[in-house]
Amino acid sequence: MNPSTGLNTSESSLAETHSFFCTTPEAAAVTRLCSALDVAFDACTEAHDPSLHASFARAVRAALTEAAADPALLTDDQREPSATCYRRHLLAADPHGRYAIAALVWMPGQASPIHAHHTWCGYAVIDGALTETLYDWQADGDCAVPVREHSRETGAVSFTRAGRNCIHRLGNGSGAAAVSLHIYGVSGNQIATHVNDVVRVADHVQAVPA
Ligand SMILES: [Fe+2]
Repeated sequence: MNPSTGLNTSESSLAETHSFFCTTPEAAAVTRLCSALDVAFDACTEAHDPSLHASFARAVRAALTEAAADPALLTDDQREPSATCYRRHLLAADPHGRYAIAALVWMPGQASPIHAHHTWCGYAVIDGALTETLYDWQADGDCAVPVREHSRETGAVSFTRAGRNCIHRLGNGSGAAAVSLHIYGVSGNQIATHVNDVVRVADHVQAVPA
């Protein structure tokens, strides 16, 4: 209790914080996404690695689908691109370090490196279209080889576990900006350093079949 105001200071602070986060549609949409992820983790409390469970993957994909369909998910600032490289906007980070959520903005011609993942991750295309190229890992050659390419249109959702069984590159091959929503199984301060496992590509590769 604060003797000067007659209020319980901590409860007042919490109420103000809650009010702040829910005053904008964007913040409410991100809060709903975080709640869905918390539920997915709570359902796997016995699991050493929740991402290995099909139910967890389904829950993350469902959460991505719902969030991506919400036109109020992102602010205008969170849709700002960069002229030099695809741009990442951190939207939220789990206080327990279990996940981080980001929006990625892709201008035409911008692409990720070719990479596997050190952790599980999922994404959904919010606006525009991305091209995803998938690769096989050849351990004997210590390199990746492209195997196929897919167009990922608005609404497309993907979930991937850690490891070199899933190597890909995302890029914007269209003539318009694209935006995607990503969830990574790392804390917020690890998002740029502990997600992508950038791999070497075979020196001589055939054209990728569509
Ligand atoms: Fe990736």
